[in-house]
Amino acid sequence: MKLKETGMTEGQLKEKASKYMIETYERFDFVAETAKDMYMYTPTGEKYLDFYAGIAVNSTGNCNEKVVAAVMDQCQDLMQTFNYPYTIPQVLLAEKICTTIGMDKIFYQNSGTEANEAMIKMARKYGVEKYGSNKYNIVTAKSSFHGRTFGAMSATGQPDNACQIGFGGMVPGFTYAPYNDLEAFKAACTENTIAIMIEPVQGEGGVHPATMEFMKGLREFCDEKGMLLLLDEVQTGWCRTGAVMSYMNYGIKPDIVSMAKALGGGMPIGAICATEEVSKAFTMGSHGTTFGGHPVCCAAALAEVNELLDRKCAENAKEMGDYFSEKLKTLPHVKEVRHQGLLVGVEFDETIKALDVKHGCFDRKLLITAIGSSVIRMVPPLILTKEHCDAAFEIILDTVKSLS
Ligand SMILES: Cc1ncc(COP(=O)(O)O)c(C=O)c1O
Repeated sequence: MKLKETGMTEGQLKEKASKYMIETYERFDFVAETAKDMYMYTPTGEKYLDFYAGIAVNSTGNCNEKVVAAVMDQCQDLMQTFNYPYTIPQVLLAEKICTTIGMDKIFYQNSGTEANEAMIKMARKYGVEKYGSNKYNIVTAKSSFHGRTFGAMSATGQPDNACQIGFGGMVPGFTYAPYNDLEAFKAACTENTIAIMIEPVQGEGGVHPATMEFMKGLREFCDEKGMLLLLDEVQTGWCRTGAVMSYMNYGIKPDIVSMAKALGGGMPIGAICATEEVSKAFTMGSHGTTFGGHPVCCAAALAEVNELLDRKCAENAKEMGDYFSEKLKTLPHVKEVRHQGLLVGVEFDETIKALDVKHGCFDRKLLITAIGSSVIRMVPPLILTKEHCDAAFEIILDTVKSLS
């Protein structure tokens, strides 16, 4: 929909937003009317270089032509059916995902938080049914982020964050250990622990990749104790980290993995994939969803996955992520640059505020996000080139110099 068609000005649209909408977001102060590949456009045609991609979503570029065509085609054939009949995009996507990432079975959801709910539910049911009624505890990481529904919120190890404050008690059954500390994770597990759940790279926690030792150590420990390794790949999945799934960077496999964001190429979809054995915990009626596996979202996801693989987006994420990160290390006031592929975080010293960098970049027509007080995060479409990295770097450099 275009602003011109409504007869309103940008100012009038924003006024209506503040009158009628419940606002919980720190907004970019512009109207995003259209978008294509690496750019977003305002109603007056101003152009913004997109280094956040709907937060790690539009990986094959904004409004990718093949994804758009798949959506339009599917809308004309069949939109929604609930999960009673078989639908063609659902089944083809299931096969494509499972065979691509080496997992046995998939269950569709609508978002990242829902995918994590499903992952937690499946692990708990597996534990209770296999080992007994107390075996449902899950150890997760401090500073993790798993979503905003109650199970995912409770798995999130951030008691002081606005996403947990003021909502009353969390769901029982979670304990938390420091990320990348294998011994602390081992110590946090008890006889009632059924699983360990982590992000391979803590995204919202400030872009911290898991070390090889930590990831492999958790896999070995879970195998030894008959516990499950649950990986939240909502942000890291589907080529962002230089491999199709981040766990492939570590040469391990999870028992259940959650995904969302990039999978739909801009359409809302989430999913979990599990091993055959663990997937059996979900029996007839034990879990379900009205919209999960929506034919239009599955058609979009199938087109997106094919595009990601055909255009070698994982390889490009690795190459461009390394290139961009090396450049970012030369910025003034940088404490550390952390990345895995094109999930990139820059931590500044105490003289530079991340929000100021974000706003300064916005004024210079570059879209990035800030995490906490000192980290900026960049998760651009995976189709970007060195020229886009250079352009973004110059803007960030100019911004940081102006703040020094
Ligand atoms: C690692 C991780 N898990 C879960 C979520 C929640 O996903 P959604 O916003 O789709 O519910 C996010 C969102 O940022 C995430 O980064």
